[in-house]
Amino acid sequence: MAAKSPLVNVMERAARKAGRRLIRDFGEVEQLQVSPKGPGDFVTAADLKAEDILREDLGRARPDFGFLMEERGEVPGRDASQRWIVDPLDGTVNFLHGIPRFCISIAVEQATTSAGRERREIIAGLVYNPITDESYWADKNQGAYLNDRRMRVSGRRRMDEALIGIGFPPPGTDDLDAFLARTRSLMARAGGLRRFGSAALDLAYVAAGRFEGYWQDGLGPWDVAAGLILVREAGGFVSDSRGGGDIMGSGSIVAGNALLHGELLAILEASAFAGP
Ligand code: 2AM
Ligand code: CA
Repeated sequence: MAAKSPLVNVMERAARKAGRRLIRDFGEVEQLQVSPKGPGDFVTAADLKAEDILREDLGRARPDFGFLMEERGEVPGRDASQRWIVDPLDGTVNFLHGIPRFCISIAVEQATTSAGRERREIIAGLVYNPITDESYWADKNQGAYLNDRRMRVSGRRRMDEALIGIGFPPPGTDDLDAFLARTRSLMARAGGLRRFGSAALDLAYVAAGRFEGYWQDGLGPWDVAAGLILVREAGGFVSDSRGGGDIMGSGSIVAGNALLHGELLAILEASAFAGP
């Protein structure tokens, strides 16, 4: 039986509460699709409301922690060594279009100093899908879980049998050719590609062994903070898209099982400048 840390319990309680709110608002969004103006403003308000619930609940449980939130940015805490990293609604475009594929992502980042150098690492993370009531969570060195079941990354070894999640660059990107060249190479080598539109949920899928890998550039730290500890604790590898460790800073992520992570990086690297 999975033993959740107090931090995970706090994150899960807050996420379930914010999730109930998101589900109510999502029902409204589905109705608004037919209005000419669409549900844009309503979704922005729903996003902010969910963030407020999370901020209040997480803040009450750990009053000294700081925050890094997608909508309201950075809020320093009295304890500079711990902060919550929160995305109240990952998969916003899906939500906006009435597509039931979005989640809440919460992580705890801890800063430690050794030999005068500060090191920041994620020590706990939770991705919650309110539609399916799936809670993906992990504590550092304690494994990763989907609800009460231990998660393990997929054991598939062959790229031509691998299902790889990807994310598109934002509209208007000037890097479209590089993205297309890499995607073209991946399409030629992988068993299949998926683009579901929620980075946090996609990383949870890698942890759960549903995807063999995942690649996306141009992300914020709140998109990946929880997902990266899920993948690591499920036995997978996570790096930035050059194979380095600066995932949160670079906003690029490549995740995979131990067997395919290196191959995924090699395919992306080789095709980065190949052109379409
Ligand atoms: P969001 O839903 O919170 O906006 C979609 O490809 C994934 O990328 C989502 O997880 C989305 O998060 C994230 N993302 C981050 N920055 C983005 C941007 N500028 N445009 C679109 N999606 C972005
Ligand atoms: Ca997001």
